[in-house]
Amino acid sequence: MGMRLVFLGPPGAGKGTQAKMVAEKRRIPHISTGDMLREGKTEAARKVKAIMDRGELVPDEVVLALVESRLDSDWKDGFILDGYPRNVAQAKDLEGSLARRGATLDRVVAFELDEEAAVRRMGGRRSCPACGAVYHLESNPPRKKAGACDKCGGALVLRKDDEPETVRRRMQEYRKKTAALIDHYRERGLLTTVAAEGEVDEVARRVEAALSGTCPSGAIAPHTRGSGGGAR
Ligand code: AP5
Repeated sequence: MGMRLVFLGPPGAGKGTQAKMVAEKRRIPHISTGDMLREGKTEAARKVKAIMDRGELVPDEVVLALVESRLDSDWKDGFILDGYPRNVAQAKDLEGSLARRGATLDRVVAFELDEEAAVRRMGGRRSCPACGAVYHLESNPPRKKAGACDKCGGALVLRKDDEPETVRRRMQEYRKKTAALIDHYRERGLLTTVAAEGEVDEVARRVEAALSGTCPSGAIAPHTRGSGGGAR
């Protein structure tokens, strides 16, 4: 059975990048609420888009409905929740949701990156609206043609919520609402923090060290230190 994981951290910390790698390696589903919200094509999704474009959190019940629909099919195989939960109310919703299925989380990985570095990363991010692939102008540029997605050829764009004003708003939301989850999960013995600076592969080694810790599920040593260093 795959692990049930939550990846949390400030916008731009690299949660999505690392979640995709771990999901592929461990063959568990990657559930990104940001991606699910961006993919929505209904009237409700259009309303939510205005909230996202302002850099605010969308209502808890909207996100819970999306997550529930994925857990219905995915909870048994394990999963990585990327960007959910984002406040304590959502964390409690998730606990209830898993408890109804007789399940619990195995681990919460909190990515730590200072705000300036996160803002720099987001400024260089380019995304493919057609297939969801993510690039970075410096650390991971498209290889085939500048400005075009390597996978599907779609034109790469700067996400609307990656514009500087909106990035500041997202950071505020993180500090005000999401950062409280660090204590929430530490108190439950589920938290491992991972330093998110450095190259993608270096961070990936730390994440792997954090996930392969010798502690049993649900009893995470707060000072796990891996071969790549930086996990604690
Ligand atoms: P979401 O899409 O989840 O955005 P986020 O959490 O703000 O995270 P990002 O996608 O910006 O960053 P990331 O940490 O995944 O970094 P990435 O790997 O892309 O949410 C968007 C919006 O949706 C929210 O603002 C909200 O409105 C709404 N929403 C979503 N979930 C919600 C919820 N639960 N409740 C309410 N509202 C919700 O990396 C960033 C860039 O850096 C990329 O270009 C990447 O290539 C590059 N990079 C990554 N790692 C490295 C590295 N080590 N070195 C150099 N470059 C790197």
